Amino acid sequence: MELPYAEPYKIKTFESVRQSSREEREQWISDASYNLFNLKSEQVFIDLLTDSGTGSMSQEQWSAIMTGDESYAGSKSFYDLKRTILELTGFEYVLPTHQGRAAENVLFSTMIKAGDVIPGNAHFDTTKGHIEFRQATALDCTIDEASDTSVYHPFKGNVDIEKLGKAVSEYGVDRIPLIMVTITCNSTGGQPVSMKNLSEVREFADKHGIPVIFDSARFSENAYFIKKREEDYAAMPVREIIHKMFSYADGMTMSSKKDGLVNIGGFLAMHDAELYKRASHFNIMYEGFISYGGMAGRDMAALAVGLKVVASMEFLESRIKQVHYLGDRLKEFGIPVQEPFGGHAIFVDAKKFLPDVPKEEYIGQTLAVELYKESGVRGVEIGTLLADRDPHTRENRYPELEMVRLTIPRRVYTMNHMNYIAIALKNIHDRKEDIRSGYRIISEAPIMRHFTVELEPR
Ligand code: F0G
Repeated sequence: MELPYAEPYKIKTFESVRQSSREEREQWISDASYNLFNLKSEQVFIDLLTDSGTGSMSQEQWSAIMTGDESYAGSKSFYDLKRTILELTGFEYVLPTHQGRAAENVLFSTMIKAGDVIPGNAHFDTTKGHIEFRQATALDCTIDEASDTSVYHPFKGNVDIEKLGKAVSEYGVDRIPLIMVTITCNSTGGQPVSMKNLSEVREFADKHGIPVIFDSARFSENAYFIKKREEDYAAMPVREIIHKMFSYADGMTMSSKKDGLVNIGGFLAMHDAELYKRASHFNIMYEGFISYGGMAGRDMAALAVGLKVVASMEFLESRIKQVHYLGDRLKEFGIPVQEPFGGHAIFVDAKKFLPDVPKEEYIGQTLAVELYKESGVRGVEIGTLLADRDPHTRENRYPELEMVRLTIPRRVYTMNHMNYIAIALKNIHDRKEDIRSGYRIISEAPIMRHFTVELEPR
């Protein structure tokens, strides 16, 4: 028999989590205005809200914490981090930031102005938020296959080069300061971008003189999928794949809370000395001096260790196999999920799961709340609430996919937890005909409303 997957680590420190009753959860979620972000963590049994900053660190990272250099300027931990990033990505210039969206803020302050258009593959919500905040437009140029959960495509994060071409002819290169490629593409289900596609984007960008920036939060998971699914790379070590991926970009923004394997941090890296100089001013204003940018020396030290580990096949295989185990269990139960499975999460197709809930009543949110009430598992809506209103018409934007993301933190949960989650969803699936109505908004923020929105049942 083939030996089954087993976690390649043993547990040295643990954190207790508490089971609760359905009555308790019904009260708590009502008190939270049916917004899962408003729940206290003690009210959650298994937390799949995000894989961002929620992973556990290795003993090597914890020891690095103890030797971090807290000097304001010229910290050794910064130089170690800078060298690690250079070796991994080839980028010479590095600006630390306190997290990924801060890197976006610094870079976009340097590169984007009102009226600009930023094409890319389904920008993440903070990226889109930072673009729209500057009265610019985030233009989604992902391939069409990405929005059909029943179609198989090995790289649903790919950019449609024809759509890029249309963007250039419609808006002109002068209004396109950069192309943003998200690896892996979170918003389409943690879907990877192929090496071939990255090279095509590069070729297109060179033809038109447009810089290419990678949003790199899950770069290592992207490299894993290239190794597994793109023939030419099956034999190439992951580190080399990563290096080659980044050879197609002019710069990167990074949320280190994902593939940095740390709880907080981010950075910006690039080749161009001039761009670095301009971005440094904003970094100093918004984040901190250029050799710490909002990070403690100890956190930079832990990140340098994390970036080495994340580029190993042993780590990636265990990480992604756990996510896919959950996906397989859900499929066994006939639950509609985005396929192929992505790297960091399983995305449940809420529209197919709850066909009787009208789209105006937030189908994804309805399923996410139902899952919490059933089991204490907290997932997150990736649907109409997240898609927000159109900045011009203020109408709801109804995305093609209405999903619940079950995001798996790195090295935190066991296979028993995965089974628990799958059975919780099966129980809801067995009684899905009874769920016919959703929620209505009582109050919302003008931008990025999903974090604070208040809802009530219809
Ligand atoms: N880019 C991507 C692709 C992301 O997934 C995120 C965060 C960011 C940028 C912003 O980074 O949180 O460090 O400021 N994603 C988290 C998530 C929040 O739950 O997917 P940040």
